[in-house]
Amino acid sequence: MLQGRKLVLGVTGSIAAYKSAELVRLLIKAGADVQVIMTPGAQQFISPLTLATLSRHPVYSTIATEDEWHNHVRLGREADLLLIAPASAHTLAKMANGLCDNLLLATYLSACCPVVVAPAMDEEMWLHPTTQAHIHSLMRVGVDVLEVAQGDLASGLQGWGRMLEPSEILSAITQRWIQPGNQLKGKKVLVTAGPTREPIDPVRYISNHSSGKMGFALAKVFAWMGAEVHLVAGPTSAPAPQHPRIRLTHIETAAQLAEACLKIFPETDITVMAAAVADYRPQQVSPRKIKKQEDHLQLNLEKTMDILSELGKRKQPHQWLIGFALESQHDPALALEKLRQKNLDLIVLNSLDEPGAGFAGDTNKISIFDRLGHQMHFPLKHKHAVAHDIIQALLQLMHPA
Ligand code: CTP
Repeated sequence: MLQGRKLVLGVTGSIAAYKSAELVRLLIKAGADVQVIMTPGAQQFISPLTLATLSRHPVYSTIATEDEWHNHVRLGREADLLLIAPASAHTLAKMANGLCDNLLLATYLSACCPVVVAPAMDEEMWLHPTTQAHIHSLMRVGVDVLEVAQGDLASGLQGWGRMLEPSEILSAITQRWIQPGNQLKGKKVLVTAGPTREPIDPVRYISNHSSGKMGFALAKVFAWMGAEVHLVAGPTSAPAPQHPRIRLTHIETAAQLAEACLKIFPETDITVMAAAVADYRPQQVSPRKIKKQEDHLQLNLEKTMDILSELGKRKQPHQWLIGFALESQHDPALALEKLRQKNLDLIVLNSLDEPGAGFAGDTNKISIFDRLGHQMHFPLKHKHAVAHDIIQALLQLMHPA
C-alpha cells in the first residue's frame, strides 16, 4: 500500500509518543520507507533505539552532533509525506510561527511534500484559543490537521485531545494522500515555471519578478500524484524540486522556452504554463556592451511567440491545457477571455492587487475557471496547497462525477 513511499515521521514530546512505535510498525508493514525524527522532548517519552529498530534507520534529532551535521533541508525535500504524530501543542505553535530550533522544524519548513499532523494534548490545551489559532494558521498554509479523539487523557481527565490510534492515522493518510497520490500515475505532464530573460547586450536583459515557486509546487504535487513531470524552468533563485519523477530543463529566453515546449508537448497528457513569459524581446541583441552616450536610449522590442496560444492550436482531444492569467485587478472577464482565446481547459487567475498573492512569495490567492463554466475561488494559501487545488480542479474536469 505504501510501497516505494518515503515517509518522514516526526515524533514530539507528548505522552502519546509511546504510540509511535506501533505507528512505525504499521507504516513499515505497509511497505513505507520510514525516517524518524524526534524532537529533544520526545526522547523523554520513548527511546530513539526503539524507533530506530522498528524503522530500520537511525533516528535523527538535532541538526548537528559533535562530529556530524545533518543537512537540515534534505529530509523535507526528499520525502513524499511528512507526518508528525504525536504533534504537541508546543511543536504546533512553533510550526505556526516559523520557529526552527530543531531538526523536525527545519524539515517542516523545507518540506516540498504534503504535511500531516496528528495533534495530542489535554483538552484545555487543545481548546485554548491560542492553540486553535495555530491550528488554523497551519491549515491555511495547507497542513492537513487530523482530528483529535475523545477519551482518557494524560492528566487523568477525560475529554478531547487524544491522538488518533495508529491504525486510524494510517488509514487517514492512505485515504487522503496515498490513494489520491496514484491518481495521475503514468500521465506525462509538462510544467513551465519562472521568468524568461531577454538579452539586450552581453550584460543586460529584460525580465520579470517571477520566482518560479508556483510552477515548482505544481511539478512537485504532480510528481507526488504519480505523474512523470517535465519541468522547464527559467532562471530563478528558488530551489527546483527534486523528485525521481521530475525531469528538469533550464531555459533562459522565451524562444528557448517555446522550442522546449513545442518539442515536449506532443508527448504530454497535461500541460501547465506557469512561466511568466516575456511578451516582448529586444529586436536586436547588441554583441557588445551598449555604451552610455545620449540622454535617452531607445530599445526596439518585438513580440515573442505566445506559447500557450500555440499549444492551444496544436492541442489534441486527449490533451489538457492549463494557463495562468496574471492581472492587475481581480477581473474574471479577462481570465475567461484568455481561456477562450488560447483554447484552454482551465485558467488560474492571479491578481496583483491581492496582498500575499502573485509572483514572489510563498503564498497565492487564486480563482479557477474551467471551459465548462465552473468557477472556484480560494483563500490565500501556501503555493503547495494552491497546486493541490489546481490539480483537483483539473481532475474534476477530467473525471466528472
Ligand atoms: N504565455 C505564453 N507565452 C507568452 C506569454 C504568456 O505562453 N508569450 C502564457 C503564460 O505562461 C500564462 C498565459 O499565457 O499561462 C497568460 O499570460 P499573461 O501574462 O497573463 O497574459 P498574456 O497572454 O501575456 O496577455 P497580457 O500580458 O496582455 O495580459
